[in-house]
Amino acid sequence: MQLPGVLLLSKYIIQGGREINGVIRIGGAKNSVLPIFAATILSGRKSIIHDCPILKDVEIMIDILKVLGCSVKREGHTVIIDTSGYIEYEVPDILVRKMRSSIVLLGALISRVKKAKICFPGGCDIGPRPIDLHLKGLEQLGVKINESHGTIYCEASDLKGADIHLDYPSVGATENILLASVFAKGTTTIRNAAKEPEIGDLQNFLNIIGAKVSGAGTNNIRVEGVKSLNDGEHTIIPDRIVAGTYMAAAASTGGNLELQNINVEHMQPIIAKLKEMGCDIYFKDGSMHITSPKRLRAVDIVRTLPYPGFPTDMQAPIVALLSKAKGTSIMIETVFENRFKHVEDLICMGANIKVDGRIAIIRGRSRLTGANVTARDLRGGAALVLAGLSAEGTTVLDAVEHIDRGYEDIHLHLQQLGADIVRI
Ligand code: UD1
Repeated sequence: MQLPGVLLLSKYIIQGGREINGVIRIGGAKNSVLPIFAATILSGRKSIIHDCPILKDVEIMIDILKVLGCSVKREGHTVIIDTSGYIEYEVPDILVRKMRSSIVLLGALISRVKKAKICFPGGCDIGPRPIDLHLKGLEQLGVKINESHGTIYCEASDLKGADIHLDYPSVGATENILLASVFAKGTTTIRNAAKEPEIGDLQNFLNIIGAKVSGAGTNNIRVEGVKSLNDGEHTIIPDRIVAGTYMAAAASTGGNLELQNINVEHMQPIIAKLKEMGCDIYFKDGSMHITSPKRLRAVDIVRTLPYPGFPTDMQAPIVALLSKAKGTSIMIETVFENRFKHVEDLICMGANIKVDGRIAIIRGRSRLTGANVTARDLRGGAALVLAGLSAEGTTVLDAVEHIDRGYEDIHLHLQQLGADIVRI
């Protein structure tokens, strides 16, 4: 029986030492689905979105859309969203605090209902995650912003295209400004825009429903304001971070994996590092194959950077791999502060890692040993799964709900690939 007010957390029990082998199909990217769901609000029509992963964050976004007045129906991995009815401008605090990326609703609501009220968002605790760049960009489009007691109020009776330069290529700020500018009069240019593949996916969806956006994937995105949008149907791009995590699972256990539904271009920063570590990676008949050596090699320096640099979301999984690689590696986290929380748990498992600010020095050990550890955020939790798979003995990983935010049934997929992992 669940006691009132007591949160019962799930665990993974992992018996390490089994190779990860076989075939896996990669599903749609969480970081694409969330802004694209927000974008459906703009159209006031029906959107059919395929390959939407079944994840905690995605379900929270669906709940928010329903509360705002959208009609949402999930049929397996397809989600049908009808936004033709009345749309509320106020996003409930309780749902926003569960997911930081709900901030992308700001741009969508400003576009559709010309006002928005949303509290400062929650999400993974990986350091300060300000939204100053989002707000500065929106103001340049003519949005009036008031902040008080942790709530942001926005109003925009007359959105006008603007030339906006981002001080940093923030993914969320690029998405919010892009969404807010779809109906803005004239041309909007977002300079120093984020180039992540998920921005390209958002551009493609917006253009399918009738927007005029170009330049995603380059430094400058250009939006020509339109007057109305249409129905649309779209398939989400494969999740490059989920793919990278399964590749890392194979690499950490000396296994071989075939990955289906992969966009090779999006995977290049991850492929380059896994190759340096000694993995053989090739493409055949539309699939990607990874074969890993008995023991991985250390890499001199890995530096997380905005795309096409090495993704910060793969930092924790790669640190787990480097803990057992031959030699010493340096990981520099340049994107987020406070993103080395998994290190403490890896050390409990026998890893030799020293962290100084944004730098981790990892001296590879020949073995890790199972321990009782805790997932503290999404990607850090995934890293501990990888460490558990390659460790000797039993790992008990607590608070795996964090992992549910970004990986659909990871333990079931790993079981099918040969892992000894159960959820309790
Ligand atoms: C998105 C991804 C997240 C990924 C990150 C970087 C989603 C839902 N999440 O997060 O998985 O790790 O990109 O690739 O797509 N910053 C500011 N001011 C701002 C905005 C950002 O200083 O207004 C800083 C942040 O604190 C951070 C850095 O910029 O240090 C990068 O943040 P950003 O690119 O905005 O990441 P998110 O959109 O939050």
